[in-house]
Amino acid sequence: MNCNIAVIKGDGIGPEVVTEAMKVLDAVGKKYGHTFNYEQLLMGGCSIDKYGEPLTDETVAIAKTKDAVLLGSIGGNTQTSPWYKLPPNKRPEAGLLKIRKELGLFANLRPAYLYPELKEACPLKESVAERGFDMMIMRELTGGLYFGDRYTKEVDGVMTAVDTLTYNENEIRRIAVKGFDIAMKRRKKVTLVDKANVLDSSRLWRKVTEEVAKDYPEVTYETMLVDNAAMQLVKDPAQFDVMLTENMFGDILSDEASMITGSIGMLSSASLNETKFGLYEPSGGSAPDIAGQNIANPIATILSAAMMLKFTFDLDKEADAIENAVKKVLEEGYRTIDIAKPGEPQVKCDEMGTLIAERV
Ligand code: IPM
Ligand code: MG
Repeated sequence: MNCNIAVIKGDGIGPEVVTEAMKVLDAVGKKYGHTFNYEQLLMGGCSIDKYGEPLTDETVAIAKTKDAVLLGSIGGNTQTSPWYKLPPNKRPEAGLLKIRKELGLFANLRPAYLYPELKEACPLKESVAERGFDMMIMRELTGGLYFGDRYTKEVDGVMTAVDTLTYNENEIRRIAVKGFDIAMKRRKKVTLVDKANVLDSSRLWRKVTEEVAKDYPEVTYETMLVDNAAMQLVKDPAQFDVMLTENMFGDILSDEASMITGSIGMLSSASLNETKFGLYEPSGGSAPDIAGQNIANPIATILSAAMMLKFTFDLDKEADAIENAVKKVLEEGYRTIDIAKPGEPQVKCDEMGTLIAERV
C-alpha cells in the first residue's frame, strides 16, 4: 500500500519523538511491503517563526490532500517563550485548534491502558493498580467551550470575560455513534460523562446519547457526572471501557487518565472525521524543559502511528505488530527516564525507537 502522510514534527520534543515513529513505520513498510511517503509541514511555534502565524492556509490545504497527519507536539514555555507575547489567536495552540476545525476532526480517541510491566509507575494504590485498566476516552473535539464565542469587555465599568458553551444535537449524535461503534469492538460499555445536574448542554448530550444507545442493545450504557468521574478514575479506573464526553471535560479527564498509566509519554491519540482521514499525535505536550536532550519517551507517538495504520489504512496486522513490539521492549525491561524506576537502566529516545523498530 502507498500511504501519503503529512508529518508535522512541531515544537519541543515533537521532532525527536516523530522521528522515532517514522523509523518504526519504515520498519513496518519494509517488513509488510508498504510505502510511507512523508511531506513535512510546519505548525505551532516553528510556523510562527517562519511565517508569522501558527498554521497557514497553505499548510491546511496540503494536509487535506494527504491520507493522514502524524503530529508531534506544539508550543513552548508559556512563561518565557516569545510566542506567548502574541495575541491568543496567533499563539501555537491556535494552530492546533485551527487544524482540528478545518479538517473536521470531531472525534478524539485517547486510549488509557496500564501495561502490566508499568504497574509500579502507576501512582495509584497497589490494590487499585493490581486490577489494571483499559479505557478509551472519546472526547468531542470541535465544539463546546473551545469553539464558542468569546470576548472580554467592560460592562458597567467592570471587566467581564465571556466564553460560550454550545452543542447541537447533530454534533452530539455523530460522536455518540462513534463511541458506541468503538465500544462494540471492545468490552461493550459506554459511560457518558457530563454535568447534567447544572448544564443545559449536558442535558442535551444525555437525551441524544440515550437515543443512540437504543440502537446498541448489546452495549451497557450509563451516565456519570464529571466531578464523580474525576474521582472514580483514581478510585476504580477498571470500571471504564469507553468514556464519552464533551471537549473540555475530555481535555481534563484524559490528562488524569494518562497520568495513572504511569507517564503521559505512553498515551497515543487519534482525531478522526467522518472519513478515513485522521490526525495522530501523542496525548502529551511539547515538554520544552526536556526538548533536544534525546530523553523523551517516543512510545506515545509510536503508538499513535499504530492507530493511524488501524483507523486510516485498515492495516490491523501491522498496527498489532507495532503494539506487540512496544509490549516486547517493555517486557525486556527497556525504559525511558519517565517510566524507569530508581536505579533501573535507561535508554534514550532514539534507542527506544530503534529497539521497537527492530521488533516489529
Ligand atoms: C490537548 C491539549 C490542547 C487542548 C491544548 C494544547 C490547546 O491540552 O490536546 O489536550 O486543550 O485540546
Ligand atoms: Mg489537554
